[in-house]
Amino acid sequence: MSAKLIKGTEIREAILEEITSKVTQIKKKHGVVPGLVTILVGENPASISYVTLKIKTAHRVGFEEIQDTQPIDISEADLLALIDKYNKDERINGILVQLPLPKHINEKKVLNAIDPDKDVDGFHPVNVGRLMIGGDEIKFPPCTPAGIQEMIVRAGVETKGAEVVVVGRSNIVGKPIANMMLQKGVGANSTVTIVHTGTKNLDEHCKRADILIVAAGVPNLVKPEWIKPGACVIDVGVNRVGEKISEKTGKKIAVLKGDVDFEAAKDIAGYITPVPGGVGPMTITMLMLNTLKSLQFKLNIVE
Ligand code: GUN
Repeated sequence: MSAKLIKGTEIREAILEEITSKVTQIKKKHGVVPGLVTILVGENPASISYVTLKIKTAHRVGFEEIQDTQPIDISEADLLALIDKYNKDERINGILVQLPLPKHINEKKVLNAIDPDKDVDGFHPVNVGRLMIGGDEIKFPPCTPAGIQEMIVRAGVETKGAEVVVVGRSNIVGKPIANMMLQKGVGANSTVTIVHTGTKNLDEHCKRADILIVAAGVPNLVKPEWIKPGACVIDVGVNRVGEKISEKTGKKIAVLKGDVDFEAAKDIAGYITPVPGGVGPMTITMLMLNTLKSLQFKLNIVE
């Protein structure tokens, strides 16, 4: 293995420590802590485990945290009323509605009902627009792209003038990370190409990348010969390809594979993120950072 591993698990610990210390300072000076509510509709096991981890992490960094679980048959009107209640709640700085929502609820309508100043997921059109404008306009970058950029910066990878190729065009990862990497500023200023299922010669584009960000949701899509020697490879894919018994707990757990053939790629890339333990842990970490920032904006704390 010649590539340097960029471990989300390690970077997470450093950032959570930084957040905890800032929360302590704010509490001392202003007598308040950030408040995060996660709204979960129904009992989707993956959603329950994500929300549980978000709440646990919020608790760890000293936030006030509320987990609001609603029945699967809650009406859209009742869910909108609940969001309105938290929009008006002074203790709450961040509102997160766990996705996906049941079919009878219009997801877009729900996300658009969240106060953009409490939209710590960064999914509201106002925050998407702010991200597009860039610079001081940005309030809440979406968490996975923010985590990716943070990993690239903390690994010391040069982004200015770099060829960045993003595989995937989702609203949650592909489009926002491409937008962030082309802005002027630290950890950006790159030349960006987005490729997707409609792109011809996908491999040719990938081979040009100094930084290759893959969020396609296809296990082992990126082959080792698509990687430029020394490139920084960020694998956002979390694909469940089977099950195994955990050595630690003895329980059945999912076998996860990324979108990149890690075993082969690690001998060609200069930097690479593992799956699991790479981008995954960064998403919740950046959610905590956005929630802290939300309170800092409210208190006019400039860093
Ligand atoms: N479901 C899967 N990922 C996410 C996320 O980042 N935010 C929300 N709200 N729901 C999700």
